[in-house]
Formats: sequence, structure tokens, C-alpha cells
Amino acid sequence: MEQKTLFMIKPDATTDNHIGEILQMVEKNGFVIENMKMFKMDHALVEEFYAEHVGKHFFPEHSAFMRSGEIVGVVLSREDAVLKLRELVGATDFTQAALGTVRSIFGRSKGENAVHASDSIESADREIALIFK
Ligand code: TYD
Ligand code: MG
Repeated sequence: MEQKTLFMIKPDATTDNHIGEILQMVEKNGFVIENMKMFKMDHALVEEFYAEHVGKHFFPEHSAFMRSGEIVGVVLSREDAVLKLRELVGATDFTQAALGTVRSIFGRSKGENAVHASDSIESADREIALIFK
């Protein structure tokens, strides 16, 4: 089924000038860029975006990281986009991410892991509405 999903290039990867290489990876893997913007997150947006993680031990540090620089938000489409993008992105902890995945190549740590990908169709709908409202 043709789906849309939300992809974000996080501040570690934008700061390191990896935007072009990462977008090339997604396009070469059959995703179509439907919409895209560069923006910064503030405290309120981080809390709304990562609502399921507010209060967890890693949240304050991850929130500071997400507010530390530019983010590229991208709406991607393709067949089974949600699952296929999670596969291309790899595991949250880059040391556990499969060889060749975006996080295995560009991740720095468990938190500074280069990119975000929606984890379900429901999350994708919610996140696209939030970032592209
Ligand atoms: P999560 O939704 O579990 O991972 P994913 O991005 O793979 O869907 O967590 C959201 C982000 O929070 C994750 O990308 C990085 C950060 N994080 C940490 O810094 N430490 C952790 O232990 C976890 C689970 C996440
Ligand atoms: Mg998640």
C-alpha cells in the first residue's frame, strides 16, 4: 500500500553537512520527497512531538539535543513507506543498527542518531500534521 511517513534529519547530521548524502540514500531507496522544510524545534514542539517519552530518563538530554540546531523535516512516500523507512534508518542505538543503514553510517550515540522515522501509520499522520501544520 502506498503510504506517507515523516522523516527528519536531526541537528547532529545537519551540523555535520550530511543532508545531501542522507536525502540521496532515501531517494535511491525508492522514496519520493513530497514536502520538505528546514526549521528549529522549541521546547513546546519537542514535548508534543515526543509526548510518549516525556518524563523518561533520557528526555532532558534528547530534548536539548533536538533544540541544538537545524532540522530538516521531510514527508516521504512509497509502497509500505513506514516499515521500509524504519528498515533504512536502522536501530535507535547506532551501534546496534544493521550495516548500511542511515544510523549505522551517520549516528554518533544512542541519542544523537542522525534521523527520525515514524514508527506506525498513526504516528506518521500525527507527526506530519504537527510538523507541516
Ligand atoms: P525512540 O522512539 O525509542 O526511538 P526511535 O527514534 O528509533 O523511534 O526514542 C526517540 C529518541 O529518543 C531516539 O531517536 C533517541 C532518543 N533516545 C535516547 O536518547 N536514549 C534512549 O535510551 C532512547 C530509548 C531514546
Ligand atoms: Mg520512536
